[in-house]
Amino acid sequence: MIQAAPVTTLQARVAAAIAECRLLATMTEEPGRITRRFLTPPVHQVHAHLRSRMQSLGMSVSLDAVGNLRGLWQPPRSGKRLILGSHIDTVPDAGAFDGVLGVVLAIELVAIAQTNRLPLAIEVIAFSEEEGVRFGVPFLGSRAVVGRFDPSLLAVSDPDGVTVESAIRAFGLDPAQIESAALDPDAAAFLELHIEQGPVLESENLPLGVVTAIVGQTRCELTFHGRANHAGTTPMHLRHDALTAAAKWIVAVERFAANAPADSGLVATVGRVQVSPNAGNVIPGNVRVSLDLRAPLDSIREQALTRLFEDAATIARAGRVEVETKILMQQPAVSMDEELTAILADALEAAGFPLRRLPSGAGHDAMVMATRIPTAMLFLRSPGGISHHPSENVLEEDVTAALRAGEVFLTRMAAKLNP
Ligand code: HGY
Ligand code: MN
Ligand code: MN
Repeated sequence: MIQAAPVTTLQARVAAAIAECRLLATMTEEPGRITRRFLTPPVHQVHAHLRSRMQSLGMSVSLDAVGNLRGLWQPPRSGKRLILGSHIDTVPDAGAFDGVLGVVLAIELVAIAQTNRLPLAIEVIAFSEEEGVRFGVPFLGSRAVVGRFDPSLLAVSDPDGVTVESAIRAFGLDPAQIESAALDPDAAAFLELHIEQGPVLESENLPLGVVTAIVGQTRCELTFHGRANHAGTTPMHLRHDALTAAAKWIVAVERFAANAPADSGLVATVGRVQVSPNAGNVIPGNVRVSLDLRAPLDSIREQALTRLFEDAATIARAGRVEVETKILMQQPAVSMDEELTAILADALEAAGFPLRRLPSGAGHDAMVMATRIPTAMLFLRSPGGISHHPSENVLEEDVTAALRAGEVFLTRMAAKLNP
């Protein structure tokens, strides 16, 4: 009988990590698809699972006032701490790995640090809100950790009229304690592991990538104010149709970004349209439209925003409607810390993997953490280059590579933080 090769500890860790992401994916607001927005009921289940995983490793676990779950491993003779983590919220109908893979691998890296008896303190943070789906404003969790949670955010409401403050209270947390979510002064560096969510690593058949910078992004909302009226009795020239104006603007957005110079890296997306009163026999009176605008250079993004707002005003006037613009979030482009990124790149090569540096078109908590402490990011290949979709996936060989490069990185950081 052929003996199966013994499963190594690392192989077992990798299979368990992928299985854990798929288990966490079942903790959803919508049975049959993965949707887990900020502080919705399934987040309690995710917290319970991650808490028991971290406590089984002897980590002390706490939940801060914006729902970030925090686990701390502090071995004897350890000093400054390394922060590892990513987010546990998802977009609607998401994949099983965006965000949560980074949390699961962070906990695996704590187990590896323990096995190797590294004198390295590690805090794992499962950020509560990165996508900005529920309230239209991303990074609520990491903003609180870096002390940038603007109290005015508490009054922002979701489509059901629930405010951030009420959502925090309904989850059993106290918004008055948000300041205590701030990073410990001992926090020395942050590393986020995340799927690339794009096609680059796969197109070059590479398992891992070291992130150089994260593009800047603007999230805004435009409301076209027309006048609802009867679809049968209102002649075309007397209409104030908010939806046809919004539709013309949406096409103009796509055309502007598609015609931008290729090296500008500009991308523009209208992902959400809310029509009121949204009835087939009523001329739409009001239409709320989202805009997600990104570019590696802030000047390109800012110029594009100005132009697209001007186009909206021109199209509204021509359509006898009004348009109101509202910027929900402006996040400048952020470069990763050079020294920390060099340590990560060196660890990746020392572990035997080809080095590929690349920018991130997706936003991440790392871009917020980078405003407070040295930050680096490690990408894992996205099979099919797809993400924010149920077919999002990750390869066992790439998770193995990430843990092996991560193990070398931890060793280097233990020496650096505890000389
Ligand atoms: O939208 C993004 O860039 C990220 O996936 N939150
Ligand atoms: Mn995402
Ligand atoms: Mn993400």
